[in-house]
Amino acid sequence: MKILSSEITSYKFYINRRNFIKSSTASMVASLIPLNSHAFHKDTNINISNQLDKNDKLNTYEEITTYNNFYEFGTAKSDPSNYSKQFKPRPWSISIEGLVEKPGLIDLEDLIKEFTVEDRIYRLRCVEAWSMVIPWQGFSLNRLIKKVEPKSDARYIQFVTVFRPDEMPGQKRRILPWPYVEGLRMDEAMHPLTILSTGMYGHELLNQNGAPLRLVVPWKYGFKSIKSIVAIRFVKDQPTTTWPVTNPSEYAFYSNVNPEVDHRRWSQASERRIGEFKRRSTLMFNGYEEEVSYMYKNMDLKKFF
Ligand code: MTE
Repeated sequence: MKILSSEITSYKFYINRRNFIKSSTASMVASLIPLNSHAFHKDTNINISNQLDKNDKLNTYEEITTYNNFYEFGTAKSDPSNYSKQFKPRPWSISIEGLVEKPGLIDLEDLIKEFTVEDRIYRLRCVEAWSMVIPWQGFSLNRLIKKVEPKSDARYIQFVTVFRPDEMPGQKRRILPWPYVEGLRMDEAMHPLTILSTGMYGHELLNQNGAPLRLVVPWKYGFKSIKSIVAIRFVKDQPTTTWPVTNPSEYAFYSNVNPEVDHRRWSQASERRIGEFKRRSTLMFNGYEEEVSYMYKNMDLKKFF
């Protein structure tokens, strides 16, 4: 069933609905009910998946906030929730740099006031072959891009995570080259599925999930969804990104979810959905093929993995 973008649940309604669900006897089964299947983005008419598929159910708040990858706080899945309490995500500003007409510092609170925050329920598929279904709140990155007016030679965007070793104990160790950096091609960044997230399950993002602002790119492996972003740089050439620089034989720039291209050390054909016993098949582009495959039509996906 198709629904219009005007019917996408607003943030306020989401909270009200959640409060209603919480206080009703329906709460036990609420997370099992599939939501509507598709919505069209009002600017582009591209199908955005604001839905759970019939085979998906939301992971719990507990799962999403205690099983994390955020190496700035350590490499174990429980490290980010255990060791991120001293991190201060507010006040926060984002530096807009490079090939744009309007560079400068933007205060996050101003952005949240300007852009209506929407719900987006997405699958997150980690390159390590586990996955979750997460109800994010956020706004399409393309709104911010349009606001800062990229110049015509800006073909890529690089994103940078904050560097605060005093608040992020993992950054005192040389686990990765700090700060963590990520990047997208401009058409990927403009795609309506690509969001900057400020919240999850109707709450502000917790530190372990990338507070106060993180990227979510649902058709790519989770490491592209960079957390705690302090700078967004508009550049001409494909930018440096953390994992390919750290281990070029195992990670590449595009990192689209692809069950046919294995990781050097394991298969990507199936995945373990957190909370489930049986493995499930991994879907091409993490199930967003219809929406995103046109961007890679002329690319050899085995070469540009
Ligand atoms: N961003 C930063 N700055 N540092 C990280 O270690 N890990 C990535 C990504 N973003 C990471 C990061 C990986 S590997 C994944 S799978 C997702 O965050 C996990 O997001 P989650 O913990 O909110 O599920």
